[in-house]
Amino acid sequence: MDDSGRVYSNVKDVYTTEKGGLIPRDVAVHHKNVYQRVIDSALKQAGMDISEINLIAFSQAPGLDPSLIVGRDVAKKLSEDLKVPIIGVNHCIAHLEIGRLLTKAKDPVLLYASGANTQIIAYEGGKYRIFGETVDNGIGNFLDSFARHIGLGFPGGPKIEQLALKGKNLIELPYNVKGMDVAFSGMLTKLQQLFDSKKHSAEDLAFSAQETAFAMLVEVSERAMAHTDKSELLIGGGVGCNKRLQEMCRIMCKERGAEFFAPPNEYLTDNGAMIAWTGIVMHKSGVKTKALDILPHQRTDQVEVTWR
Ligand code: FE2
Repeated sequence: MDDSGRVYSNVKDVYTTEKGGLIPRDVAVHHKNVYQRVIDSALKQAGMDISEINLIAFSQAPGLDPSLIVGRDVAKKLSEDLKVPIIGVNHCIAHLEIGRLLTKAKDPVLLYASGANTQIIAYEGGKYRIFGETVDNGIGNFLDSFARHIGLGFPGGPKIEQLALKGKNLIELPYNVKGMDVAFSGMLTKLQQLFDSKKHSAEDLAFSAQETAFAMLVEVSERAMAHTDKSELLIGGGVGCNKRLQEMCRIMCKERGAEFFAPPNEYLTDNGAMIAWTGIVMHKSGVKTKALDILPHQRTDQVEVTWR
């Protein structure tokens, strides 16, 4: 990545598991096993030598400690070896910044919908604030859990999306929006019961799960847009790849005379370019990361935004 926003390479190697259970220690082992290969192929794709790198950015927050530590340690060693500055980035803010870069959205509300995270984030009063979020599972974990229950593999979200295309009947499910927050566990329990009762097809249940859960996300996104008086909605996170979720967001935006933006899928799912780009804009604005401790529980509004 360079400071004009050009992406030279965006290589990924993502931990996956057939059973869907995510063990933090295993994820860290995966990261340790692949990092050198990922760095090598990123440089190869970019046609660059490592000596041409003049800034190292890493994901400092939030997340699982073991994974964050591996990334931080590798970044620290690189920055020391290359004698270049190092900068710690908030992962959630990075989703928003890469989306702004690639879609040209100027001041959007971000619907960040991924496995572990579901948040509505927007810039207000000099901070990126969380206006609403899930109080239990991330939307992606919710979809994966339902998929696992009905015998689909992991990741289940894309399989639910395919199944939902064949659903016809909308089954009433618990719709849980409280203020600006959402919750999915009640809907998950209900879906599991309905599936086990064999009264409804998996297709109809998948269709209804998506329609209900996405309507909840769209409702709180719209409310955040109204509250902040913003006229752009940006999507981020792996579940943001879901075409039906994108369509529902687009319809809501159209109805209120707003614009909807979705970056390409490879920048919706977690990616290195988003960390690199956020590191670049922070660095250009004079941010220096002095303490390299990871911050697993950092909230977006704890980050001082100096680059806007
Ligand atoms: Fe993410």
